[in-house]
Amino acid sequence: MEVIKSTEEIKSLNFSSPFALVPTMGNLHEGHLSLVKYGIENYSEVIASIYINPLQFGKNEDFSTYPKTISQDIQLLETLGCNYLFIPEKNFAENLDIIEPKFSDVLCGLSRPSHFHGVLTIINKFLRIIKPNACLFGLKDYQQQLIIKEFVKRKKIKTDIVSLPIVREKSGLAMSSRNNYLSDEDKKFCGKIYSCLKNLAASLKKKPLGVLKIEAINFLQHAGFEIDYLEIVDANNLSSVTKKTNKILIAVAAIYKKVRLIDNIVVSL
Ligand code: PAJ
Repeated sequence: MEVIKSTEEIKSLNFSSPFALVPTMGNLHEGHLSLVKYGIENYSEVIASIYINPLQFGKNEDFSTYPKTISQDIQLLETLGCNYLFIPEKNFAENLDIIEPKFSDVLCGLSRPSHFHGVLTIINKFLRIIKPNACLFGLKDYQQQLIIKEFVKRKKIKTDIVSLPIVREKSGLAMSSRNNYLSDEDKKFCGKIYSCLKNLAASLKKKPLGVLKIEAINFLQHAGFEIDYLEIVDANNLSSVTKKTNKILIAVAAIYKKVRLIDNIVVSL
């Protein structure tokens, strides 16, 4: 695997087509690796990137303490057979025009107001300098991939945005770099978030959505989670469910021992 740090160099490379980009912030786990594996199986070459993007962290968030495990990450990517790793210089996010996302005034965008502006701004830079045939994202960050898909379509950028399934711990907890802040016992306990989403999904036709939402919030609060949000929305545009809705998103952000955990389920009607 070739490791590239210079933007000029990555711009000048000729990748064999079709090639896929997997953007990450490192501290790689099975969730990230599932994207790289998918890339290797479905494209001629895969470029992973590791960049802790300062633009997407709020003032009181964990930018400076975000877990960094670069040599371990390189090892994991080498073992999988990833072709290139791009590790941009620190100043990669400097002097960029901030891009205005759609669908960012709900769910995670409410409690993290500039988060998706930061994500979209950096992803736009990646897409414009690398020009991959496809860019791979995890459905764990449902709102993120929806925002990026909408932007790429609107701007007619010639990259397929491919969204891939959530990889979970044995307990059902969605894998995340922030799970590192939790003990094994905590991770097992936090499997309750997914059980709650599954129960809610199984009850969708049995009770009004408002009732289901309150029951799920009560369940998680009683279990010891602080709820940032739990919403049942139209998965196509994150707005309220209507008679026309054909795909429902049940999304949650719950805080356990100060760790903010997100998860979701999509149900086709
Ligand atoms: P990061 O949190 O490192 O995630 C990188 C990619 O891995 C994202 O597409 C995310 O959805 C995916 N991912 C994380 N956990 C996953 C899981 N359990 N199952 C499946 N996929 C999972 O998301 C970001 O970084 C950043 O916002 C980024 C897109 C790199 C822009 O800075």
